[in-house]
Amino acid sequence: MTARTAARPGEPRLLVRGGRRLSGQVAVSGAKNSALKLMAASLLASGTSVLHNVPDIQDVRTMQEVLEHLGAVVDFADGTMTVDTSAVQSHVAPYELVQRMRASIQIMGPLVARFGEARVAMPGGCNLGPRKIDIHLRGLADMGAKVRSDHGFVEVTAAKLHAIDMFLDYPSVGATESLLMAAVMAEGTTTLENVAREPEIVDLCKFMVSMGADITGAGSSTLKVNGVREMQPAEHTVLGDRIEAGTFLIAGAVTGGEIEVTGISPHVLDLFLSKLRSVGVQIAENTRSIKASGDPASYTTVDVATLPYPGFPTDLQAQMMVLLSIAGGVSVVTENVFENRFGFVDELIRLGADIRVDGNHAVVTGGRSLTGAIVRCPDLRAGAALAVAGLVAEGCTELREVYHIDRGYERFEEKLRGLGAEVERAGSGFDSCA
Ligand code: UD1
Repeated sequence: MTARTAARPGEPRLLVRGGRRLSGQVAVSGAKNSALKLMAASLLASGTSVLHNVPDIQDVRTMQEVLEHLGAVVDFADGTMTVDTSAVQSHVAPYELVQRMRASIQIMGPLVARFGEARVAMPGGCNLGPRKIDIHLRGLADMGAKVRSDHGFVEVTAAKLHAIDMFLDYPSVGATESLLMAAVMAEGTTTLENVAREPEIVDLCKFMVSMGADITGAGSSTLKVNGVREMQPAEHTVLGDRIEAGTFLIAGAVTGGEIEVTGISPHVLDLFLSKLRSVGVQIAENTRSIKASGDPASYTTVDVATLPYPGFPTDLQAQMMVLLSIAGGVSVVTENVFENRFGFVDELIRLGADIRVDGNHAVVTGGRSLTGAIVRCPDLRAGAALAVAGLVAEGCTELREVYHIDRGYERFEEKLRGLGAEVERAGSGFDSCA
């Protein structure tokens, strides 16, 4: 193993010993990218909303802190969260929280809609590139809000929001959600075109409809929102996490195992599953579960280009790259959603992958045998992908900066162990791959 700087004392690491074939069943948790927005949407009404199937992950805990900072009372146990927003007084998301989790900015829409003001620290860049919020802000300004930025904050104020007709420059997930959450209580009928169609947006619409919103078109590229005067608290169950499901399916496939993920409708992963089939992975779909099995020796090349839903999810691009690294042939992976999402490639190369990056294209020469090494997780999905690579690498892989994985995967190593993987968390002390 190539030497790297020693881990900081107490820094959690994951140790993955490769070579085990995974088998069995794993239940996916509630979707991170839905739960966070539902929590934000609970701010639209005064009173207590109840959310079920909420994943206990770091990002959810951070959003809990954001809501508590605003004055909400949040209780979270055994996957059920209650959010009482009756005493919300502050309208500020401080830098410390936004910088920890960018999705904190999603409180902006609901706060402006209900209280007429929001002051949110500017998220700035992140490991995935600059990630602008211009579409969110332009839409809010068109609705009649005054948008100012100073001292690193964006301040949005409005005595009253009014309906708009807007064609989004890009079907941004976050902007669609911001504008939806603002439009539900704006005066008149808002039409948003070229919106994101992700299943998590549909989940948000369902929750807001049960809160009293009048929304049509969820899941299509045009949303119509008739503004209502008031929203009420509601109860909702978060949909399953399709990205977690996809991560486990790839984990099963790279090890030549046979696994079943439950709690997910295969339909939300249509294109992803069709790409797995093209590689040679056998997929069996049921209403609420997906089985994957296959022989890595027979896997072949497939080209992948990430796109907004229903395209190939950018959040599964890194995991797919691991599968393509061991499949025979040369594949091209094109990243169209984020400017800088190949940051993990150098780490994957440390494990033996053969990948050449040119702009937003990565040329993956497959058929490689991976070998364990020390790697660092540059972001959430890349971290999960490196753990998956460790499952198939010869020997032991030590993952550093695993807090990225903890942001978005509930009981990650416990679930992998349940499938037969040899994964353990090294907290402090001298345990390591050496
Ligand atoms: C969400 C997901 C993230 C996923 C992404 C794309 C959450 C918490 N995160 O992120 O996991 O990878 O969708 O499926 O739900 N853009 C602009 N202007 C804007 C907004 C976005 O130019 O106002 C650009 C971004 O810079 C980026 C692209 O649009 O290049 C996609 O961003 P967006 O769809 O908004 O993703 P997020 O909501 O940030």
